[in-house]
Amino acid sequence: MKNRVYIASDHAGFELKEEILKVNKDLLLDLGTKNKDRVDYPDFALTLVENIKKDVESKGILICGTGNGMAIAANRHKNIRAGLVFNAEITKLIRQHNDANVLVLPGRFIDVQEALKCVDIFLSTNFEAGRHKKRVDMISER
Ligand code: RB5
Repeated sequence: MKNRVYIASDHAGFELKEEILKVNKDLLLDLGTKNKDRVDYPDFALTLVENIKKDVESKGILICGTGNGMAIAANRHKNIRAGLVFNAEITKLIRQHNDANVLVLPGRFIDVQEALKCVDIFLSTNFEAGRHKKRVDMISER
């Protein structure tokens, strides 16, 4: 079975979330928000993190206006490594070096085409392990 990929956003990330869902609808599990009404990003970060904790091989995509609120909220949780990215190159590195299991996108500061590239790269790039494994382990051990 394919590993699950959850996606969630607040109102500021809603439009980008819908664009990402259009091209990845069979792959992604949408945890909301469901429209542009104002909501609180910590609620959506928590829902996504709780799903990943129950399903440790899964990954997540979070979107808010700057990406920072979602990243801050998600990274409070043990074994969640959420990487905020602005382009494809950084996306590759958060997988190769940081083994990020959550991709965070800044909905108000990235165009749809770049964001779609980031999603593809996030889902298809492996962790390099090697010298990076020790560092990632140091995070979860503390
Ligand atoms: C919502 O206006 C905005 O504050 C939120 O989407 C996000 O950017 C927070 O970090």
